[in-house]
Amino acid sequence: MRRAMSTPPSPQPASGARAAFPRSSSTATPSPSDSALYAHLEPRIGRCHLNQRLGIENDFEARVFGQGRTFFHIENWYSIHGLMRQFLRMMWLHDQGRKNARHIQVRHHTFFLKNLPVAFDGYTILHITDLHLDMAADLPDALIEVLAGVEGYDLCVLTGDFRAQTFGPYAAAIKALGRVLPFIKSPAYGVLGNHDSIRMVPALEDLGVRILLNEAVRLERGGKAVYLAGIDDPHYYRADNLEKAADGIPDHAVSILLSHSPEMYRHAAYANFDIMLSGHTHGGQICLPGRIPLMLNAKAPRAICRGPWRYQSLQGYTSVGSGVSVVDIRLNCPPEIVLHRLRRG
Ligand SMILES: [Fe+2]
Repeated sequence: MRRAMSTPPSPQPASGARAAFPRSSSTATPSPSDSALYAHLEPRIGRCHLNQRLGIENDFEARVFGQGRTFFHIENWYSIHGLMRQFLRMMWLHDQGRKNARHIQVRHHTFFLKNLPVAFDGYTILHITDLHLDMAADLPDALIEVLAGVEGYDLCVLTGDFRAQTFGPYAAAIKALGRVLPFIKSPAYGVLGNHDSIRMVPALEDLGVRILLNEAVRLERGGKAVYLAGIDDPHYYRADNLEKAADGIPDHAVSILLSHSPEMYRHAAYANFDIMLSGHTHGGQICLPGRIPLMLNAKAPRAICRGPWRYQSLQGYTSVGSGVSVVDIRLNCPPEIVLHRLRRG
């Protein structure tokens, strides 16, 4: 096993260890409405992770200040959304910004890896992130339009933020994703973002998107393998567990990490991941000319928060995403989906 772990963690903490975890009254015993969720996920990710995620969702959902890696969360400050829209109207930027948000670009990027098995040379991953599909009724159509014209990829990864709001109903986002997925022509894997509830996972998986909750899967081709791992939201809910995600990945195997936010770059590098794919920052979404972001909502260097980057031996790409948050407007920061090609070399 990789990552110098002398004793692999068991899938669930021992009963004695579980008793030591602080547990809110809301999650100590699953509510009847969460019973199906526990039945779906507990055998896979363990009761501890489920209790933690649900407990933090119940106690801290949609806070503007505190909780998470950054102190201020503009996405949770719902009263400012209308003011921002009004300000952009006054600046004559509103209508153009809405048009920009619906013109999704296809970007191409290549990762070069010395230890890539020959069988995976040319393997291509479609990366979509920050879909926020229920932000506006016509946004799924914009994504469908661009996906319909994209061919030649082997895998699709969705790095979180399926829902527009950070709380409340998610049925509209799931329904919109159900419209989009038929236009994705490969198996799809995903992770949750800070806008997503773990309660969405059964519905997402019923649609065919396998959500990686501090888990890894083996991708095989020509008798060889690379490993795809994913962590639960590391930005707001901080439910990530890299050790658990990396456990089971052999030393020297090529490994790709999905993390909603790039803020985990340092830990991912020293956990020996080769590639990290992220989103979350939207590249700023509303930027000054020259693509200068006003805000990135991440505790990470700006170089890590948009496009390709490298930290030590870890290569990463932080996509600006296909969707929008707070307001359905983009300025000087076009939305994108990305085709990542793996090359040996
Ligand atoms: Fe987002």
